Amino acid sequence: MSWKYLCDVSDVPSNSLKLVDADGIRIVVANYGEGFRAMPPICPHMEEPLDESGVIASCVLTCTKHLWAWDLRNLDLIGETEKELKTYEVRQNGSRLLAFVEEELTYDFDEEAEDDYDFFAKA
Ligand code: FES
Repeated sequence: MSWKYLCDVSDVPSNSLKLVDADGIRIVVANYGEGFRAMPPICPHMEEPLDESGVIASCVLTCTKHLWAWDLRNLDLIGETEKELKTYEVRQNGSRLLAFVEEELTYDFDEEAEDDYDFFAKA
Protein backbone atom coordinates (compact mmCIF):
# COMPACT_ATOMS: atom_id res chain seq x y z
CA MET A 1 0.00 0.00 0.00
CA SER A 2 1.10 3.58 0.22
CA TRP A 3 0.56 7.11 1.48
CA LYS A 4 -3.14 7.89 1.29
CA TYR A 5 -4.92 11.23 1.45
CA LEU A 6 -7.05 11.54 4.59
CA CYS A 7 -8.42 15.09 4.58
CA ASP A 8 -7.29 18.69 4.73
CA VAL A 9 -5.79 20.04 7.96
CA SER A 10 -8.66 22.55 8.14
CA ASP A 11 -11.18 19.68 8.19
CA VAL A 12 -10.04 18.61 11.69
CA PRO A 13 -10.06 21.49 14.18
CA SER A 14 -7.91 21.28 17.29
CA ASN A 15 -9.19 18.75 19.86
CA SER A 16 -11.50 16.99 17.44
CA LEU A 17 -11.85 13.70 15.59
CA LYS A 18 -12.97 13.13 12.03
CA LEU A 19 -13.97 9.90 10.30
CA VAL A 20 -12.61 9.66 6.76
CA ASP A 21 -12.55 7.10 3.97
CA ALA A 22 -9.07 6.53 2.57
CA ASP A 23 -9.51 4.42 -0.56
CA GLY A 24 -12.12 2.27 1.15
CA ILE A 25 -10.41 2.07 4.55
CA ARG A 26 -12.22 3.87 7.35
CA ILE A 27 -9.80 5.92 9.46
CA VAL A 28 -10.34 8.36 12.31
CA VAL A 29 -8.11 11.42 12.22
CA ALA A 30 -7.40 13.14 15.54
CA ASN A 31 -6.06 16.66 15.97
CA TYR A 32 -4.72 16.86 19.54
CA GLY A 33 -3.42 20.41 19.26
CA GLU A 34 0.25 19.45 19.04
CA GLY A 35 -0.15 17.12 16.08
CA PHE A 36 -2.29 14.56 14.34
CA ARG A 37 -2.94 10.84 14.73
CA ALA A 38 -4.70 8.46 12.37
CA MET A 39 -6.26 5.28 13.76
CA PRO A 40 -8.86 2.58 13.17
CA PRO A 41 -12.40 4.00 13.57
CA ILE A 42 -13.33 1.99 16.67
CA CYS A 43 -12.33 1.89 20.32
CA PRO A 44 -10.07 -1.11 21.05
CA HIS A 45 -12.21 -1.90 24.10
CA MET A 46 -15.69 -2.64 22.74
CA GLU A 47 -15.82 -1.31 19.19
CA GLU A 48 -17.41 2.06 19.96
CA PRO A 49 -17.09 4.47 17.02
CA LEU A 50 -14.32 6.81 18.19
CA ASP A 51 -15.51 9.74 16.09
CA GLU A 52 -18.69 9.70 18.21
CA SER A 53 -17.55 8.49 21.65
CA GLY A 54 -14.04 9.96 21.68
CA VAL A 55 -13.12 13.32 23.18
CA ILE A 56 -9.72 15.01 23.20
CA ALA A 57 -8.49 17.31 25.96
CA SER A 58 -4.91 18.17 26.97
CA CYS A 59 -3.59 15.79 24.26
CA VAL A 60 -5.51 12.86 25.78
CA LEU A 61 -8.08 10.88 23.80
CA THR A 62 -10.79 9.43 26.04
CA CYS A 63 -13.50 7.04 24.91
CA THR A 64 -16.50 8.24 26.89
CA LYS A 65 -18.15 4.81 26.87
CA HIS A 66 -15.95 3.32 29.66
CA LEU A 67 -13.22 6.00 29.95
CA TRP A 68 -10.30 4.18 28.40
CA ALA A 69 -7.77 6.88 27.48
CA TRP A 70 -4.50 7.37 25.63
CA ASP A 71 -1.97 10.19 25.53
CA LEU A 72 -1.84 11.05 21.83
CA ARG A 73 1.68 12.53 22.11
CA ASN A 74 3.33 9.20 22.95
CA LEU A 75 0.39 6.73 22.86
CA ASP A 76 0.80 5.88 26.55
CA LEU A 77 -2.14 4.07 28.13
CA ILE A 78 -3.83 6.05 30.91
CA GLY A 79 -5.64 4.76 34.00
CA GLU A 80 -7.49 1.47 33.56
CA THR A 81 -6.89 1.30 29.81
CA GLU A 82 -5.80 -2.20 28.83
CA LYS A 83 -5.13 -2.09 25.10
CA GLU A 84 -2.81 -0.01 22.98
CA LEU A 85 -4.22 2.30 20.36
CA LYS A 86 -3.13 1.26 16.88
CA THR A 87 -2.14 4.12 14.60
CA TYR A 88 -1.07 4.78 11.05
CA GLU A 89 1.95 6.98 10.39
CA VAL A 90 0.74 10.50 9.57
CA ARG A 91 2.41 13.13 7.41
CA GLN A 92 1.32 16.69 6.77
CA ASN A 93 1.96 17.82 3.20
CA GLY A 94 1.05 21.48 2.98
CA SER A 95 -2.66 21.68 3.80
CA ARG A 96 -3.17 17.93 3.29
CA LEU A 97 -2.95 15.09 5.78
CA LEU A 98 -1.69 11.72 4.58
CA ALA A 99 -1.41 8.34 6.28
CA PHE A 100 0.86 5.44 5.40
CA VAL A 101 -1.47 2.48 5.05
CA GLU A 102 0.28 -0.84 4.58
CA GLU A 103 -2.81 -2.79 5.60
CA GLU A 104 -6.02 -1.99 7.43
CA LEU A 105 -5.38 -1.99 11.19
CA THR A 106 -7.90 -3.97 13.26
CA TYR A 107 -8.34 -5.15 16.84
CA ASP A 108 -8.95 -8.65 18.16
CA PHE A 109 -12.08 -8.69 20.30
CA ASP A 110 -12.25 -12.46 20.97
CA GLU A 111 -10.87 -12.08 24.50
CA GLU A 112 -13.67 -9.71 25.52
CA ALA A 113 -16.32 -12.01 24.06
CA GLU A 114 -15.06 -14.89 26.23
CA ASP A 115 -15.02 -12.65 29.31
CA ASP A 116 -18.63 -11.67 28.70
CA TYR A 117 -19.61 -15.31 28.32
CA ASP A 118 -17.92 -16.24 31.63
CA PHE A 119 -19.61 -13.35 33.38
CA PHE A 120 -23.07 -14.46 32.35
CA ALA A 121 -22.32 -18.13 32.98
CA LYS A 122 -21.50 -17.40 36.64
CA ALA A 123 -24.43 -15.06 37.20
S1 FES B 1 -15.85 1.03 24.33
FE1 FES B 1 -14.36 2.59 24.51
S2 FES B 1 -13.82 2.50 26.58
FE2 FES B 1 -15.22 0.90 26.39
